[in-house]
Amino acid sequence: MYRVKRQENQEDNYKLMAYMSKRVLEDDQDIIASLSNISAVINGYFDQINWVGFYLMKAGELVLGPFQGLPACIRIQVGKGVCGTAVSTMQTQVVPDVHQFPGHIACDSASNSEIVIPIIKNGVVYAVLDVDSPVLDRFKAPEIKYLTQIAELIQSELDWQ
Ligand code: SME
Repeated sequence: MYRVKRQENQEDNYKLMAYMSKRVLEDDQDIIASLSNISAVINGYFDQINWVGFYLMKAGELVLGPFQGLPACIRIQVGKGVCGTAVSTMQTQVVPDVHQFPGHIACDSASNSEIVIPIIKNGVVYAVLDVDSPVLDRFKAPEIKYLTQIAELIQSELDWQ
């Protein structure tokens, strides 16, 4: 149904990743199902990553949601780690070297860089998109651009109330 076919050119892969994420969101609006397929789409088109997934805000804390990768920590307090910092600041966190980030929560010891994008609607953070890489400084302008596009689609297409 959503056949992932990697291209030679990395930018083409990112475009397909954004396009297919849009299709996933158009096809069905169930939050868990959509985020599961989007984590699989990102994992399929991105190279040099070891974890991609979502944490969802539940009763004031982040709780692990759909993901691809090794088992991860389940609950993260707002303000803690890279994910909790993305929530408390309401800002995307791009961390070129996680070992330099005070309070970084290491779920997979292979991770060296990370990006966390908050999903914000009407001033409320509902979730975060988290991607980890074993490569230092993996997330640069093109990666930030396309992952932000996907986060914006998730924010606008799903019913977060
Ligand atoms: N590194 C994150 C924790 C989640 S894992 O990377 C999947 C953090 O510091 O918040």
